Amino acid sequence: MSEPTDKILVLDFGSQYTQLIARRIREEQVYSEIQPYNYPIEKILAFHPKGIVYSGGPSSVYEEGAPVSSRELFDLGIPILGICYGLQLIAMQMGGKVAHSDRREYGPAVIKILKEDKLFSGFEDASEEERRVWMSHGDRVEELPDGFEILARTDNSPVCAVRHREKPIWGLQFHPEVHHTARGKEIIRNFIFSICGCKPSWTMQSFVTQSVAAIKEEVGNAKVIGAVSGGVDSTVMAALVGEAVGNNFYPIFVNNGVLRKNEAEEVVHLYRNQLHLNLIYHDATDRFLDALKGVIDPEEKRKIIGRTFIDVFVHEAEKIEGVEFLAQGTLYPDVIESVSFKGPSATIKSHHNVGGLPEVMPLKLVEPLRELFKDEVRLVGKVLDLPDSILGRHPFPGPGLAIRMLDDVTPEKLETLREADAIVTEEIRKAGWYDKIWQVFPVLLPIKTVGVMGDERTYEQVIVIRAVHSVDGMTADWVRLPYDLMARLSNRIINEVKGVNRVVYDISSKPPSTIEWE
Ligand code: XMP
Repeated sequence: MSEPTDKILVLDFGSQYTQLIARRIREEQVYSEIQPYNYPIEKILAFHPKGIVYSGGPSSVYEEGAPVSSRELFDLGIPILGICYGLQLIAMQMGGKVAHSDRREYGPAVIKILKEDKLFSGFEDASEEERRVWMSHGDRVEELPDGFEILARTDNSPVCAVRHREKPIWGLQFHPEVHHTARGKEIIRNFIFSICGCKPSWTMQSFVTQSVAAIKEEVGNAKVIGAVSGGVDSTVMAALVGEAVGNNFYPIFVNNGVLRKNEAEEVVHLYRNQLHLNLIYHDATDRFLDALKGVIDPEEKRKIIGRTFIDVFVHEAEKIEGVEFLAQGTLYPDVIESVSFKGPSATIKSHHNVGGLPEVMPLKLVEPLRELFKDEVRLVGKVLDLPDSILGRHPFPGPGLAIRMLDDVTPEKLETLREADAIVTEEIRKAGWYDKIWQVFPVLLPIKTVGVMGDERTYEQVIVIRAVHSVDGMTADWVRLPYDLMARLSNRIINEVKGVNRVVYDISSKPPSTIEWE
């Protein structure tokens, strides 16, 4: 095992940027974890943070029910950095005054540094452009508590950066974690390295070493099962668990009949021949398609697929004797206990495909990716030598093609969609667009339109192409694909896919639309 890593705790007061703070710190190779603002002090001490960041938040400090952390944190001697609401809370708790305002200051501002300080080291000769910061607040600190001094101001905010003269407490009215703050990275670096004294030791290589050792210790000689799909998360999870327990790990891959062209074969090949894992493959196409017969409602489709999956998985798992553990590819954003991270998608569509397995299988859980963000999972995959084709794969929903054909699911429609999907993926890859975008896929509409081919009138189906940019699937914008690429997609689909005589392009952003059509 390598050295224990230095850690920074981020207390979440509900800001949309809280995750970003933790990510920025991790990018500097310092481990950082988010906990709710009222995380008990004993737990904070047990975590041994070298520094604590208070996030921003949408509340007003004097508002009833506003999130408040313990004042005792100020006396621990652990450096604290309050950002936006975090600063206002510190100011209020230490005896200062915060003014409530209905007018928000939102957007760029330029700071003027008034006093030399470790937090701004390196800023001595910074140009105006380099001192640009991002503001997003309504309230502001009107009166500083005793013991504090002002480090920087802007034209609008006289109290923009502060520090306590004796205690290791700093505060910023602006957001160093967002890209619009020109040298925000450096401010964060100054805090974690110069002020907190962290060393950069959180690397994906060290994560893999520690995680494999931890799984070995936890699991011993017991058997582990886990559901895999060929997607990034489950494949990285499987590679890690496989590395730790070898043949005692049984990844189970269920073909639910709504996969893409050749997908099942490729996944089986990857797990068996490239990762050399003990894959159990079960083709349950008939069972899924039977259960889906005649079902039109998207949520109903999801539920049926989820339920059937659990039945099939449990049946396969029960054939293996003496299993004690269930491995899952749960990621960090799924485990953070805060409402601010659950975007609207979480409730608008039920996304949990394999959610529910732990409830029906009383096994101990192994979740090696629980601490990681998605981009870190990809980096772990790289350390484990997984092929780029897996690590760069676009997200594919658990209910698969079933939610990309409006109306009921039939083998004929699946065939149409598979052919169209193969063409779309091939052309997008060939044109060099695949790695630049979040997702691209065709959707089959349940209508027919008139066309003409040769001298014949046709009356056939419509394919929609959906291509989106996104960073996390929560918001998205449609991709401005070049016209000639769109033309190729349309020509090939209409010429090569039987039963389709029209191709249209989806130009809706999310919100108000969603990425998938169902
Ligand atoms: P929406 O359509 O909600 O999609 O904008 C956001 C992201 O989630 C994926 N998605 C799903 N993934 N099961 C999944 O595993 C689902 O039921 C599901 N529905 C949508 C979608 O592909 C996009 O990346």
